[in-house]
Amino acid sequence: MLMNNYARVDLGFKKGHGATLIADDGRDFIDFGSGIGVCSLGHAPKGLARIISKQANTLIHSSNLYKIAPQNELGERICELLGSKYYVFFANSGAEANECAIKLARKYGAPKGKNEIISLANSFHGRTIATLKLTGQEKFHPSHFEPFPDGFSYYDSIDEIIKNASERTAGVIIELVQGEGGIHALELKEVAKLAKFCKENDILLITDEVQCGVYRTGEFVASKLYGISPDIITFAKGLGAGVPIGACASKYDIFSPGDHGSTFGGNFLATSAGNYTLGELLRLKKSGQIDKMIENFTKELDKLAKKYKTLIKARTGLGAMCGLELHKSEHLSLLFEAALNNGVLVLKSGKATLRFLPPLNISKDEMKKGFKRLDKAFKEVLKSL
Ligand SMILES: Cc1ncc(COP(=O)(O)O)c(C=O)c1O
Repeated sequence: MLMNNYARVDLGFKKGHGATLIADDGRDFIDFGSGIGVCSLGHAPKGLARIISKQANTLIHSSNLYKIAPQNELGERICELLGSKYYVFFANSGAEANECAIKLARKYGAPKGKNEIISLANSFHGRTIATLKLTGQEKFHPSHFEPFPDGFSYYDSIDEIIKNASERTAGVIIELVQGEGGIHALELKEVAKLAKFCKENDILLITDEVQCGVYRTGEFVASKLYGISPDIITFAKGLGAGVPIGACASKYDIFSPGDHGSTFGGNFLATSAGNYTLGELLRLKKSGQIDKMIENFTKELDKLAKKYKTLIKARTGLGAMCGLELHKSEHLSLLFEAALNNGVLVLKSGKATLRFLPPLNISKDEMKKGFKRLDKAFKEVLKSL
């Protein structure tokens, strides 16, 4: 028996290709959610399958007691794509990448008596006990999980963060595009103001790019679109295109051996998958395919937003991290279910936003098919009200 911790849909899949998933009963679904932003190259990408298989036939795991060549290569690749010197730690998930960021910020701040980390309201940073507390949403801090660790607080806006930061603040963490809290891209000006404030006050700026990173917004990191150079950046989701991997990149190489670690983190299998994924995504970016896909996808969303303006308030987000914010929260589940019944998978975010994280290589045909089904779903819901 499995634990009862997921509100699962009564549906399972047996295979997939591109942006298409085939259900156990044979029905096909267009996946506009990529397994919550993970399957950046679509389902069962042939090249990745080949690489994983080759690596599995060579060496899967040796432990971090020894050198791991594909881990070094992936670390170098990430630094190259970031365009400056970072030191990278590999984990297995987004929450673990953020745990690493918290420990780094605390170790950095310790000699100056700084150990507090501030986050933003409506953020989401993970499910471990520390990253839950880091998450700026009260519903993630239920009393049955108390006591939570000390030293975490969150505020409603960047202005509030700046007002409340103190000589004890070691770091500030933000999602440049909030993923779980309603697809919400932070304002460019606000982020610039925060980056300047952090720099002037020796506070580490951490961007959680677990969801918005790895080309999801069109650039390798959303930080690039915002023109900032964070002290620490965390990654996961799309980095392994389905193979579990997380990463924390820091400008400061301050851990000593024993300060942090992971049994599985950065093993041969996961980092080989990461190397393939980044190579393939860079190729798609350079050929203009990611930008074109984003242009086409957002055009289709805009068409829906215009056609169903009685249901949709606005299109939100950045790049291929998109939302359709609804006027009424009670319509969210109706649309989610209607989409599912019509063979298209979308995600929910916040109280009233349909979330879209399509595979970054989704074909034109699959996009067309998905939006046709989505249009039908909107039509049905509108008719039912
Ligand atoms: C921005 C952000 N940070 C952290 C996490 C946690 O990642 P994981 O579920 O891999 O631990 C998520 C997951 O949705 C996320 O969206």
